[in-house]
Amino acid sequence: MKKHIKALLPSVCLALMCSCGHSGNDPDSRMDSFIDELMGRMTLEQKLGQMNLVTGGDMVTGHVMTNELEQMIRRQEIGGVFNVKGAGKILELQRIAVEETELGIPLLVGADIIHGYETIFPIPLALSCSWDTVAIEKMARISAIEASASGINWTYSPMVDICRDPRWGRIAEGNGEDPYLGSVLGPAYVRGYQGKDMSGKDEIMACVKHFALYGAVEGGRDYNTVDMSRQRMFNEYFPPYKAAIRGGAASVMNSFNLVDGIPAAANKWLMVDVLRDRWGFDGLLVTDYDVISEMSPHGYAPLPEASVKALEAGTDMDMVSSGYLTTLGQSLSGKAVTMAMIDKACRRVLEAKYRLGLFDDPYKYCDTTSVAGKIYTTEHRRAAREIAAETFVLLKNDNQTLPLEPKGSIALVGPMADAANNMCGMWSMTCTPSGHLSLLDAMTRELSGKAEVIYSKGCNIYADETVENNANGIRPVRRGDDETLLRQALAAAARADVVVAAMGESAEMSGESASRADIKLPDVQQKLLRGLVATGKPVVLLLFTGRPLVLTWEDANVDAILNVWFGGSEAAHAICDVVFGKVSPSGKLTTTFPRHAGQIPLYYNHMNTSRPDPDPKVFNRYCSNYIDESNEELYPFGYGLSYASFRYGDLSLDKTTLTADGAITATVNVTNTGRCRATEIVQLYTRDIYASLARPVKELKGFRRVTLEPGESRDVAFTITPDMLRFYNPELEYVWEPGEFDLMVGPDSRNLITRRFELK
Ligand code: BGC
Repeated sequence: MKKHIKALLPSVCLALMCSCGHSGNDPDSRMDSFIDELMGRMTLEQKLGQMNLVTGGDMVTGHVMTNELEQMIRRQEIGGVFNVKGAGKILELQRIAVEETELGIPLLVGADIIHGYETIFPIPLALSCSWDTVAIEKMARISAIEASASGINWTYSPMVDICRDPRWGRIAEGNGEDPYLGSVLGPAYVRGYQGKDMSGKDEIMACVKHFALYGAVEGGRDYNTVDMSRQRMFNEYFPPYKAAIRGGAASVMNSFNLVDGIPAAANKWLMVDVLRDRWGFDGLLVTDYDVISEMSPHGYAPLPEASVKALEAGTDMDMVSSGYLTTLGQSLSGKAVTMAMIDKACRRVLEAKYRLGLFDDPYKYCDTTSVAGKIYTTEHRRAAREIAAETFVLLKNDNQTLPLEPKGSIALVGPMADAANNMCGMWSMTCTPSGHLSLLDAMTRELSGKAEVIYSKGCNIYADETVENNANGIRPVRRGDDETLLRQALAAAARADVVVAAMGESAEMSGESASRADIKLPDVQQKLLRGLVATGKPVVLLLFTGRPLVLTWEDANVDAILNVWFGGSEAAHAICDVVFGKVSPSGKLTTTFPRHAGQIPLYYNHMNTSRPDPDPKVFNRYCSNYIDESNEELYPFGYGLSYASFRYGDLSLDKTTLTADGAITATVNVTNTGRCRATEIVQLYTRDIYASLARPVKELKGFRRVTLEPGESRDVAFTITPDMLRFYNPELEYVWEPGEFDLMVGPDSRNLITRRFELK
């Protein structure tokens, strides 16, 4: 490939700097000089072009499209493209940008690589249930290797929005409800994507999203209003964004929602005071899809004014609304914005390109010859299979129904049993699902010569075809007659020793624009499950879902429930590994499963209220509770069973007074009392008894993954320092306050051993 770059290569620029007076040998001042020189040659229009991001439309995530991508690049109206698929196609766009424009500035090439590119890993909510930072970093690394081999240099991940409302479909994309866990897992994604410093050919830019508070949309309805106190923002919702940014994320995406009544992308307090000034974020800030033009229906401002507001708030790049490109010129003439503001935004786009090494080698992500050897490799698939098995959560297992012995006859029933297309879940548009195995395929192979698999679909996803079409979105399936399907399934169950019911949500029932008002198993599926249970055969529910569901009936009536989420391209194998006992489940929930949708929002780290309910099992008048439902969740945060069992010994503290510069060591002995090797996630929580702001009844502060052989014991130690007890006080200062604290350790947020200590 002939290089023909008119934007001077950094190395060339470096030579010039010596003679033109720019100085400095450190990378930042070299970058500054390079960009100064480049911007010195740019017109206003070219600068606005850099601030414009357009979709290629190969993967659709919104309504706005363009079909004249190549012409726009030639006219230098584009700084980046996203959701274009195919290394060859991307190479051609990059070539046009570099060789057919006056300045030859390479493009940012973005995509939603959320949980894998061609090798698909479990959805992020599932990944979070592994509590495994090493696994998550590895998944992000593999995603970056595969995406970069396909021309992509920027991923819109990690999504670190805290969510406490399972009606919201995008709960599937995040790490659940806990700010501490979210703050540990977000940076693991960033490390995996960006590698050492984004200079490597397989290191791509991460984008922390959606800043901010998008997970708190009212009613769980997507794109809806958010309204929240500052103290809640800082203590409960901001920590994961901040941690991922401190973890080095080079870009941030702002969110669709209002914050304090102002669209996030135009909210100066949020973007400038908090993000830029308070947290020191100096990277690229991009809008979410069409956000600037959507400020008009939001009732905030028409496009020209919205573009001014977004620029004022420090938003550098406009995703698809074309507001920057088409209106800022006029706003500059009218003095609504200054050239310095435009320069600042343009500079940040160019800095991102510089840091990615695109000026040195604009084709660094476009080596089309190496694509095949890097994508969907045996090694990547093995990692995806192992990681998937770590994310499954065993919710119930009466009489050790699971694991199943590979013998006799197994009825595999349900709309998810033979649905290869569904295994990957939402945001898996980059992969080729036709190559993946369904559970039926994998189970038939696994049991060949050992046991009989009797398959029956059993029912549609929903009884109503319209609702089913809404649910299936881009992956419609062929429907059958529910009555006939039910009869066939019951006949299959009658012939079998055990029933495995593969049910739940289809892939597109979670993710963007996939809110649900009723979060139970869909109607016909419930009917089928009741029928299967009535046969008296042992029933294992394999639950496919992108969100917590209300499983109150299922919990009371089904023998075993294994939540397999959407496990990715290798999910079918991973499910067999766990169902037939090669691997013991070890996932623990990172999101509360309610007993009833009316309890939402329901989360473990709530405040106590002034009238806590003394006994959730009975109704106590004038306490904070419901007449018709308990306050308790069905499955708490941190919960998950294993094929083994674990005994927790006493919790010992080496001292009960913590001083400002001191530390307490808390130790608990954990023993595997089961019959197989298994991993336990030991959790540490604290409670601040009295503070200048009411504090939650418990807050996760640490965890350890420990793998134990049968009979093996281990002391698990946690160090508690005053720093871990900080919170944002009413003045939003990050402080710890002296006083008493409870320290709690255990297998989940409900079953904890408690000790008291004092912080002096
Ligand atoms: C989503 C973002 C995504 C973007 C680009 C939007 O609709 O909210 O999460 O990164 O589309 O595809």
